[in-house]
Amino acid sequence: MRTLLVNIDHVATLRNARGETVPDPVEAAIVAEKAGAAGIVFHLREDRRHIRDDDVHRLKRVVKGLFDFEMAATEQMMKICIATKADLVTLVPESREELTTEGGLDMKKVRDDFRKRVFPPFKRAGIAISLFIDPEEEDIAIAAELEAEAVELHTGTYANADSEERRRIELDRLRKAAIQAHELGMKVNAGHGLNFDNIQPFLDHVPHLADISIGHALIADALFNGLENTVRRMADIIAG
Ligand code: PXP
Repeated sequence: MRTLLVNIDHVATLRNARGETVPDPVEAAIVAEKAGAAGIVFHLREDRRHIRDDDVHRLKRVVKGLFDFEMAATEQMMKICIATKADLVTLVPESREELTTEGGLDMKKVRDDFRKRVFPPFKRAGIAISLFIDPEEEDIAIAAELEAEAVELHTGTYANADSEERRRIELDRLRKAAIQAHELGMKVNAGHGLNFDNIQPFLDHVPHLADISIGHALIADALFNGLENTVRRMADIIAG
């Protein structure tokens, strides 16, 4: 079954821009779940530019569906994620300069570190692991070798494609990657750059999808239509 996970980072971005307490990402999480989101995603970044530690604890108290903690695999984040007892950790690369996550993990580079240092504490804590990766055969094979429960396929290149031909190529890559990940026994999640214009072709073309994470486009649309309406509309599209 396909479901929507709502990323609430940008509610916190707006709050922090004025140093205020509103809009509150926790309130957004409550509304999103009421409107049909199957869970909430947030990215606690090293620089705390949007979600902050206190938000994580407050979110944990109210989120009823999947609690998906997106993070870079630093020791500090691992401690916070495990202490918070997240349902799912989505591991992403992170750099200070980027405006948003720019690409998937380089699995060849992180393979040994993830095997030795990162996976064991999460496995012991019973937290499922999802790896944010580009739709590349080798990266998916390494994710399976590490026994990740899920991959999150990076859809940014599809979302940003500047021609119909490029879009088709990217959809084909995503389709192949989804089939491969599914055949290797992993859940197929996806996200980045998805919006009301590009979601349907993606859903039509890519099989085996499970949790789809969307943030920016939903928060932007919600300014005009209200978060509850926006989330309900996207959740319905994704559920098909
Ligand atoms: N998935 C991951 C791993 C991300 O880093 C992000 C952005 O924070 C998203 C999904 C959501 O992307 P967007 O905000 O473009 O919908």
